[in-house]
Amino acid sequence: MNDLNNHKNTVRFYACKLGKHLELSSFEINMLDIAANYHDVGKAKLPKEIVNKPGPLTVDEYEIMKTHVVFSKNLFESAEKDYIHKDQCSKIILYHHENYDGTGYYKLKGEEIPLLSRIIRITDVFAALTEDRCYKKALDMHRALKVMWNEKHFYDYRIFCSFISILNDDEIFSYRTASFTQI
Ligand SMILES: [Fe+2]
Repeated sequence: MNDLNNHKNTVRFYACKLGKHLELSSFEINMLDIAANYHDVGKAKLPKEIVNKPGPLTVDEYEIMKTHVVFSKNLFESAEKDYIHKDQCSKIILYHHENYDGTGYYKLKGEEIPLLSRIIRITDVFAALTEDRCYKKALDMHRALKVMWNEKHFYDYRIFCSFISILNDDEIFSYRTASFTQI
């Protein structure tokens, strides 16, 4: 579960930096941090062979993988019973695999996807591509962005461009270079 823990912290860091850059309120940034903290915890409930599979998932495996968003939402709800904006935050977690073009898990499209889910989507994919996993090596920043650019229809374009624009900001540059030796 170390991969999951590192990943969670990286997504939290990028998502909050991006949220600040987008001039979100402190309330929204706090919610972004909480949602990023819980977004993938549900993967711990899935078979390791599926979560860590090096190659493409079969149709059945993909259906199982999709359930992690529900497990994550449920784990968040039971751990944060008193959180005042629980329902709103649950939706952000549940929809963190939506694609802007409507091809994600629940087929939400464009502005139907909560803004904070759109932010997590972009930072989640970038973090996953630039992390070593037990089944793959990390891509450097430029290769990761090339992969994402080729599938840019998945992302809110304005937010994606904003994210690219902050990747060389001092704090983010330091975080990237400390975390990933290949960059
Ligand atoms: Fe996820």
